[in-house]
Amino acid sequence: MMERLDVGLGDRSYPIWVGDGIMHRLGEALVEVEFPRRVAVVTNPTVSGFYREPVLAALESAGFQATVIEIPDGEQYKTLQTLELIYDALIRDGFDRYSGLLALGGGVVGDITGFAAATYLRGVPFVQVPTTLLSQVDSSVGGKTAVNHPLGKNMIGAFYQPRHVHIDVATLRTLPRREFAAGMAEVIKYGVIRDRDFFCWLGEQKDQLLDLVPDTLVQAVKRSCQIKANVVEIDEKESSLRAILNYGHTFGHAVETLAGYGVVCHGEAVAIGMVIAAELSTQLGFATEKDVAAIRTLITAFGLSATPPAHSLDDYLAAMGRDKKVKDGMLRFVLNHGIGDCSVHDIRSPESLFARILSQFPGIQVK
Ligand code: NAD
Ligand code: GLY
Repeated sequence: MMERLDVGLGDRSYPIWVGDGIMHRLGEALVEVEFPRRVAVVTNPTVSGFYREPVLAALESAGFQATVIEIPDGEQYKTLQTLELIYDALIRDGFDRYSGLLALGGGVVGDITGFAAATYLRGVPFVQVPTTLLSQVDSSVGGKTAVNHPLGKNMIGAFYQPRHVHIDVATLRTLPRREFAAGMAEVIKYGVIRDRDFFCWLGEQKDQLLDLVPDTLVQAVKRSCQIKANVVEIDEKESSLRAILNYGHTFGHAVETLAGYGVVCHGEAVAIGMVIAAELSTQLGFATEKDVAAIRTLITAFGLSATPPAHSLDDYLAAMGRDKKVKDGMLRFVLNHGIGDCSVHDIRSPESLFARILSQFPGIQVK
C-alpha cells in the first residue's frame, strides 16, 4: 500500500510518498522528479547498517550512480565540522552542479544533508529518505535545514525544500521503541493543533500503532505530513502560521536544555511541553481540564512522560527565556483551543502563571 501527497509551493513543489516496503521504489520516484543521475547518499553507520544495501540497489536498478558518505551518529555531530566532512567528500569525489544529495536517516542526517545541499555549489537538489518516526512526520517535510552552533541549536541553516520525500514505514521496525515514542509526540501535536478527529483516532488506534501495523502507520504518517504540508504551503518561512508547529516546544526546549542535550529526546521534551502548554491554555480560558486530561492520557498511552523533571521555577523561566521563541522579552506560546485548534500568544508576566501550573508537579520549587 502506498499513499501520495504533494507539498504545493509553486516551482518548489514536491511529492511525498508514504508506504510500507516501498524502499525498492526509490529509484522510480527519483526518475519521476528528474533527479540528477549522480547521487551522494548521506547517512550514519547505524542507518547504513540497516538500509544502505536496499537503497543502493533501488538507485542502481533505476540507473543512478550512488556514493555513500557516512557521518557520525548523534545530535552532537550536527555541526559545522560534520558539514565540512560532507563538503570534503563531495569535492574530493568531483560532485558537480548536476549531482544530488540524498539524506538517509533521522532528523539529524536530514537537517545537515539539507543544509549541505542548500549551500554546496550554491545549491544542489536533495531528497529526504527519513527513517525515524519524528523525521517522517516532521523534519523531512517543510524545508527547514540546519546545523547546531556551540551556543545554540539549529542556529545556522536555511529554508531549502527537497525534491522528494520517500517514507517507508517499514524502517520503523528497526527503530528503538524510545525513538518511536518520541516521534509519536509530534504526531499527537498535529491532532491537538489542527485536527480533533485525528487526535481521537490516534487514541482508538493506539494498539495498532504500538504494534506497528503497516496500514495504520501509513495513515498516521500521511495525515501528519498533510497537516504539516498545509501549514508550510501557507507560511513557508515562518512569518506567521508556521509558528503553530512549535506547540509544546517553548517549555519542551527548556526541558531539553536543563537536562543537557542528548539526555531527553526532542520528542520526549515536546510531550511534556504539550502538557504544560495545555495547562497554560486552561489557565487562560482556551481549554478545559478535560482537554488537558485527554492530552495527558494520549501522551502516556504511547509511553511518554507527561511530568516535567524536578527543576525550579526560576530555572524553567530562565531556560525558556533563552529560547528562540522569545519575542521582545515576552514568552511566545502556542496555546490550544480545546483540541483541534490553536493560536500563538505572547505571555507578558509568566511568573505567577507558571508558579501555579508547576506547583502541582512533584519536586518543582516555585518560591
Ligand atoms: P536522530 O536523527 O538522531 O535519530 C535517532 C536515532 O535513531 C539515531 O541514533 C539514528 O541513527 C537512529 N535511527 C534512525 N533511523 C533508524 C532506524 N530506522 N532504525 C534504527 N535506528 C535508526 O533523531 P530524530 O529524532 O530523527 O531527529 C532529531 C533532529 O531533528 C534534531 O536535530 C532536531 O533539531 C531535528 N528536527 C528538525 C526539524 C525540521 O523541521 N527540520 C523538525 C524537528 C526536528
Ligand atoms: N518543526 C517545526 C517546523 O518545521 O516548522
